[in-house]
Amino acid sequence: MKTQPNNETMKAAVYEQYGPPEVVQIQQVPIPRIEVDQVLIKVHATSVTTGDARLRAWDIPSLLFAIPARFMIGLFKPRKQILGTSVAGVVEQIGSEVQGLSVGQRVLASTEMDFGAHAEFVAASGDGLTQPIADDLSFEDASALSFGGSAAIYFLSDLGKLRSGQRVLIIGASGALGVSGIQYAKHLGAHVTAVCSGANHDLVRSLGADEVIDYTNDNLETMTIEDSFRFDVVYDAVGKSSRRICKHLMKPGGVFLPAVMRAPEVLQMIWTPVVYKLTRNTIRTKSGVAFTKAESITKLLALVEDGSMKAVIDQTYPLDEAVEAHRYVDTGHKRGNVILRIVD
Ligand SMILES: NC(=O)c1ccc[n+]([C@@H]2O[C@H](COP(=O)([O-])OP(=O)(O)OC[C@H]3O[C@@H](n4cnc5c(N)ncnc54)[C@H](OP(=O)(O)O)[C@@H]3O)[C@@H](O)[C@H]2O)c1
Repeated sequence: MKTQPNNETMKAAVYEQYGPPEVVQIQQVPIPRIEVDQVLIKVHATSVTTGDARLRAWDIPSLLFAIPARFMIGLFKPRKQILGTSVAGVVEQIGSEVQGLSVGQRVLASTEMDFGAHAEFVAASGDGLTQPIADDLSFEDASALSFGGSAAIYFLSDLGKLRSGQRVLIIGASGALGVSGIQYAKHLGAHVTAVCSGANHDLVRSLGADEVIDYTNDNLETMTIEDSFRFDVVYDAVGKSSRRICKHLMKPGGVFLPAVMRAPEVLQMIWTPVVYKLTRNTIRTKSGVAFTKAESITKLLALVEDGSMKAVIDQTYPLDEAVEAHRYVDTGHKRGNVILRIVD
């Protein structure tokens, strides 16, 4: 059941077909109506993520996923025509069954598969996926937290079981996933080696990386490493490497975590655990989709509060320049996050 109908309109970045950044158009569309278990958020800031850009361009890494995903997202054109999942703003309206949130509250929300955040208003789940934020946390910083942060928790803790004293290699350390990955791994007490270009070394060191490797000078495939310095976990946060390339840098029984899953990684996820069970020393590949969970948002907000984590924002664009924002994300060279600022 919907709450009161709302005939007013809002500005939104709409994509009616898959394609290059130019398919995104600024349009007036109806303000969403909320369900009884949802809240309406007046959007102040929202991220344009690589996830948004991939869907817009229909750039799905593996055919294995591209076909079922196309049925889910929209066979001939996108079913949900406003992108954006990570959003910070102010609660405007509340569904009758929502508890613990109030109108006027500053919140961070993740809309997940409902998208819709690249707009002046968005309907979000009124459960734990919408949470109040501290007064001193800016909307931009809040909206930059959950995409890379949820991925860090999912890959490094849930899949990689990274723990204090272990050594982790983070490839793509200066992207949205990478900057969160470094900070989260340091929070867990791991020793972090970050792989990025030289231009980003100061950034990743400032986030806590203990060592850096410049991928434009050093080749991971031919690099040699002493046994005691091998990695327990390799988090390929940008999908530019592989288990084969990293294997000789890893401890026997280590875990390879590719954020981008193509056919070889899917096959490895099937056979490497079996061989590991028998030998205890093969490198296991573990991957999946890092959906944002309520616990992840709670954890990320707590880490920001205690100073263990901070948002990294590269560029901020007004909603009217959503196409520019998509173009920038498409370069594959952003540092951390790209934000749309909706309310000045
Ligand atoms: N599985 C999941 O659940 C999940 C969740 C979220 C995202 N992802 C995927 O994860 C990938 C990364 O996302 P993101 O948002 O972090 O990307 P991003 O922000 O666009 O990453 C850009 C960064 O990667 C660095 N980079 C580019 N080529 C590199 C290389 N060969 N070696 C090391 N660093 C390199 C760039 O640094 P330079 O400018 O210095 O090159 C840049 O700072 C995307 O493909 C996304 O689809 C998967």
